[in-house]
Amino acid sequence: MDITIVGAGYVGLATGVAFAELGNNVRLIDIDREKIEKIRKGIAPIYEEGLQEMLQRNMDRIKAATTYNEIDGIVFICVGTPSLPDGSINLNYVKEAVENAARNMEEGIIVIKSTVFPGTTEKILLPLVKRHSNKISIAMNPEFLREGKALHDFMHPDRIVIGARDEKTAEMLKELYKPINAPIIVTNPTVAELIKYASNAFLATKISFANEIGNLAKLLGIDVYEVMKGVAMDHRISPHFLNAGIGFGGSCFPKDLKALRAGAASAGYNMRLIDAVLKINDEQPLRIIKILEKYMEPRGKTIAILGLAFKANTDDVRESRAIPIIKELLKMGANIKAYDPMAMENMKKIFPEIEYYSSVEEAIENADACLILTDWKEFEEINFDAMKRKIVIEGRRILKNKEGIIYEGVCW
Ligand SMILES: NC(=O)c1ccc[n+]([C@@H]2O[C@H](COP(=O)([O-])OP(=O)(O)OC[C@H]3O[C@@H](n4cnc5c(N)ncnc54)[C@H](O)[C@@H]3O)[C@@H](O)[C@H]2O)c1
Repeated sequence: MDITIVGAGYVGLATGVAFAELGNNVRLIDIDREKIEKIRKGIAPIYEEGLQEMLQRNMDRIKAATTYNEIDGIVFICVGTPSLPDGSINLNYVKEAVENAARNMEEGIIVIKSTVFPGTTEKILLPLVKRHSNKISIAMNPEFLREGKALHDFMHPDRIVIGARDEKTAEMLKELYKPINAPIIVTNPTVAELIKYASNAFLATKISFANEIGNLAKLLGIDVYEVMKGVAMDHRISPHFLNAGIGFGGSCFPKDLKALRAGAASAGYNMRLIDAVLKINDEQPLRIIKILEKYMEPRGKTIAILGLAFKANTDDVRESRAIPIIKELLKMGANIKAYDPMAMENMKKIFPEIEYYSSVEEAIENADACLILTDWKEFEEINFDAMKRKIVIEGRRILKNKEGIIYEGVCW
């Protein structure tokens, strides 16, 4: 099939490259010239497991452009939906992308993959499409992939949700996804939109729940990881998203929960549970600083920060828990030596003033303390001998060898 992807970011690029791998012709459109230039040369502009290789082997089926001419067939809208100050989403990118696509199409389907609040596709985007043509249908197909595992998740999803307004559109999308072995739920766009928010809200709630139990467990001198191992063996709960730590970040959970809360408030409902989940998450990273303060006054001290990405296996730093921690340490007058295997270039845009090192060894040399904030595999085994004081505090449980160091976990 002929597929156009508008927005070649983490979701759009992975989706486009994966659809090409399945044998479709894919045109990627993005307003970012630099990104498009890289893709044209077969270079993935982001780090994602297997993306570079899959892009290269499908270059004959992939086109990339900053303009929209000649689009037809199925158009996926994958542009960002960032938060506005009140928590609701900024729909400008989606509206612009939908309008541009509709203006350049004769007929076909516009599929919204960006995460949008229930009612957006029907009430806001459909009227925009109808202004240009009655031959274009609209659908909502939320994305559930995880960054770092995006291609794997695209090829092996737990389910595919198609929110369509008519049978023909639903059938075409089912046909497109036929090579993927997963259950398909066909529903309307509004239900599809809420399935996405409810899924993310539930997963984020599991994390804040694990952190709440973790905070209590630490006070009681209990290992929360041992507790959660026992909890997770209940098939109704499952072991996923129960790792206590410094909380969730990334481009989705914080933004989506805030959007859900703001949208609910506009509809006249106060989401107290979501409010609590976000509050716990906001407080969690700062707990690591409270622990650090038990050992030293951070002013003038050198603190090594290992891990800047919001999680392992990505270069994405959006809403990374490292951000509030670094901000607070800088405010307190600490010197920061940072290292991350993939995310340093992105973090330099947020904190150009801190020092970045190209290895763990260089970052921890002569440091007064070390905070581990992302669970990159290479942090499992570290030799801390070169530190000035071997004080190590973990925000994610990853370290295997703790011999000869003063060690604490944020909630263990
Ligand atoms: N990142 C994830 O893990 C994930 C998972 C599921 C769903 N989502 C949702 O998918 C959407 C995209 O997320 P992302 O992480 O890929 O964002 P991103 O910021 O990585 O990518 C968005 C891309 O859209 C481009 N863009 C913006 N306006 C445009 C326009 N008018 N025309 C063409 N291109 C335009 C940007 O230049 C950028 O490259 C969001 O709604 C997000 O909530 C993200």
